[in-house]
Amino acid sequence: MNEFDKAVMFKNKAKEAMKNKKYAEAKKYYAEAIKYLTILRNRSKSPMKEKFQMIIDTLKKTIKKIPIKEKPETPPDDVERPPFKIPKDLPENCKKIILKTRNNFKDIAGLKELKEDLRKTIEYPIKFPEETEKWGFLGERGILMHGPPGCGKTFLIKCASGQFGVPIIAMPPDRILQKYVGESSKSVAELYDCAALLSPSLVFIDEIDRLFASPDSSGVISQITSQIMQLLSGVGVGASTDKIDLPIITIAASNHPWVLDSALIRRGRLGKIVYVPPPTKEARKTILEINLRKIPLSSDVNLNLIADKTSKDAKSGWEYSCKDISYICQAARLEAMEREIDGEENVRVTQSMLLKALNSISRTISPKQVKQYTDWEKRARTNL
Ligand SMILES: Nc1ncnc2c1ncn2[C@@H]1O[C@H](COP(=O)(O)OP(=O)(O)OP(=O)(O)O)[C@@H](O)[C@H]1O
Ligand SMILES: [Mg+2]
Repeated sequence: MNEFDKAVMFKNKAKEAMKNKKYAEAKKYYAEAIKYLTILRNRSKSPMKEKFQMIIDTLKKTIKKIPIKEKPETPPDDVERPPFKIPKDLPENCKKIILKTRNNFKDIAGLKELKEDLRKTIEYPIKFPEETEKWGFLGERGILMHGPPGCGKTFLIKCASGQFGVPIIAMPPDRILQKYVGESSKSVAELYDCAALLSPSLVFIDEIDRLFASPDSSGVISQITSQIMQLLSGVGVGASTDKIDLPIITIAASNHPWVLDSALIRRGRLGKIVYVPPPTKEARKTILEINLRKIPLSSDVNLNLIADKTSKDAKSGWEYSCKDISYICQAARLEAMEREIDGEENVRVTQSMLLKALNSISRTISPKQVKQYTDWEKRARTNL
């Protein structure tokens, strides 16, 4: 069944559901029909593009008139949600680019404000489309996370998927970046087509700077940059009137944001800039707890002290990243495991093992690096 047939099928199902006063079902079917119509619209040229847009607009108006309002629940961070279920009829190529994760916000230490920000940007438009439209809260359709390596950019997005129960469509830059312009464009189109099929969804372009790192003699990069910008702005037809389209949010991450084309960092494109900083003391303590959650610990273990000792070096200003902290735990766990393998009984991770591990692992974030991010963000914000 092609996209057109599917759109017709869902539209008919919606009408049938309306007749039977099954309003919630009708809404769902209309939304499905809109999904396929949007894909058709994006693929078409004038005048078909405008025609599909007209049908989409009519269906949206119909949805608005349906006399039912269901409020979805928003479980708190520590409530496990069932993992996102991949629909059986999803094309195989899309199944392959869905990020699989079981994590949620309870696995993330610190970053409280950021989580709340993401909740507003991701969850509101997805869970409360009517309210966000009514009150004109568009949120940003595109987010750029930046910050030093190992501080949780990738991990945060994995956790957000589990937290909000939305699928993440992710394609690594080296898969997007092909030798020929046409092939790269196809990859980007595939990314957004799959996102449309699964919407509400997130498109995650991790390490986006790698897309721009190679010399662009073939024009591939400038082509896909403008393609991504168009997709971000929701440019189909009537971009200015059709902002609330399919709920697809694009999140990009980078530890070299300054190499990005500044035209990408604009309101309506990657318009929300989010800095993911090195961990605070509280966050470091939580990372220690998370990483030692299931490990037998000796009674002398004092994670508060370890969190203190992993603070910024007073002289040099170098800092530990979240990843460094998890490596400290890993080194201590390795020592405990080796002792057990060597025949020691009742092995537990002790404070001295943790201190030894700490001394063996260096801080990886320099003050110069941190300044680079904050300086870049200041510049980028003035140009938004
Ligand atoms: N806030 C956090 N809470 C708990 N663990 C974290 C946190 N941030 C990072 N980690 C741990 O550190 C690992 C590395 O983090 P992640 O890959 O997300 O860093 P990143 O910012 O994407 O780095 P890069 O810029 O190199 O891509 C994660 O897999 C996770 O185990
Ligand atoms: Mg990363």
